[in-house]
Amino acid sequence: MAKKISFIFGTRPEAIKLCPVILAMAMEPGLQPHVCVTGQHREMLDQVLDVFGIEPDVDLALMRPNQTLASLTSNAISAIDGYLGEHKPDMVLVQGDTTTVFCASLVSFYHRIPVGHVEAGLRTWNKFSPFPEEINRVLATHLVDYHFPPTSGSRNNLLKEGVDNDRIFVTGNTVIDALFIAIEKVRRNPPAIDQLPQGLLEGPGDGGMVLITGHRRESFGSGFEDICRAIKTLAGRFSETAFVYPVHLNPNVQKPVYEMLSGLNNVHLIEPLSYLPFVALMNRARVILTDSGGVQEEAPSLGKPVLVMRDTTERPEGLDAGTVKLVGTDCDTIIDSVSTLLTDSKAYDAMAQAINPYGDGRACERIIKAIAENI
Ligand code: UD1
Ligand code: UDP
Repeated sequence: MAKKISFIFGTRPEAIKLCPVILAMAMEPGLQPHVCVTGQHREMLDQVLDVFGIEPDVDLALMRPNQTLASLTSNAISAIDGYLGEHKPDMVLVQGDTTTVFCASLVSFYHRIPVGHVEAGLRTWNKFSPFPEEINRVLATHLVDYHFPPTSGSRNNLLKEGVDNDRIFVTGNTVIDALFIAIEKVRRNPPAIDQLPQGLLEGPGDGGMVLITGHRRESFGSGFEDICRAIKTLAGRFSETAFVYPVHLNPNVQKPVYEMLSGLNNVHLIEPLSYLPFVALMNRARVILTDSGGVQEEAPSLGKPVLVMRDTTERPEGLDAGTVKLVGTDCDTIIDSVSTLLTDSKAYDAMAQAINPYGDGRACERIIKAIAENI
């Protein structure tokens, strides 16, 4: 009988990085994927499930407006406990470092169900950055049974923490598998973006486009205010450049961004985009300004310079390759770094190299092979 493998996930990036694994596993005769979403995100999760055509078997619908970490954690633990008790999978798969990942790993351990961790071994070694993700992934490492780090660097991090080498499988990051699927779909059927002026997607004009995303909890408050001040100054300085910002739905992000950046001619504040239009925009952007983990992984493979509004990164491969630069949330540093990329073609060309340190698009295949051979 086919082994039942539960995918438990809840946020947009987990969905982007697990949907290709689910689709590939559905083709394997010996393995049967079972999809349980916590619904930690509602709208942003559903957007991704739609793109990949995946309907969850179980939806725990945990999102509450402006949820605290503690209430989300306690609700997730009891809801996942009920799910595992009823559905009794042979194995659980989780991805990354969210609250859903920590809770699913902990409760699976209580049920003595083996867990595989996709994108294992990322570390900044700073427990408050990213907050609370660094601790979520450290805890997950010590709860799970099989580790699927994307790179040899992340594998080494696991070895340093005493993880058994036989349980580690370097696979590449499934985000590249997802990106390849998305690029192909975008090429065949270019998406429209109603929220943007006609033509911006076809060709943003001579001034080019800066694409912005941000959501990190450690930047709430003064960090986001500094980021917005920087964007406002840049929009004034580069009036021919479009600044496109799909704003994360977290109220701690929405409030400062809409208060400080509404009403500027060349700043386009829009709802979070579905994955395909977002990939199309990344492909059109001249510069990407972000604090996102996934975007840091996707952009180098599209040859786009990424300025990361954080002080640390658990993804050193892009930094080493020179396509990613850490700029923190300091207003002047963001202004200077974006200005340089928009005006200095040498500096731009040095960063705009298409490289692919995070995978070759075959991570799903390696994960499925490791699971099939080990459970
Ligand atoms: C979460 C993850 C973070 C991940 C990020 C990806 C944790 C602690 N954080 O952060 O690791 O990088 O997702 O985006 O697991 N909201 C909506 N609709 C949505 C999504 C969010 O309204 O579709 C609002 C809700 O008010 C919700 C709030 O955003 O309460 C915060 O959501 P939450 O999942 O707690 O944290 P994120 O900041 O999104
Ligand atoms: N993304 C998207 N729509 C958007 C912004 C981002 O589909 O409006 C995608 C992006 O391509 C990447 C993922 O969402 O794959 C990153 O999610 P997020 O930044 O929320 O989380 P993180 O990667 O930081 O955990």
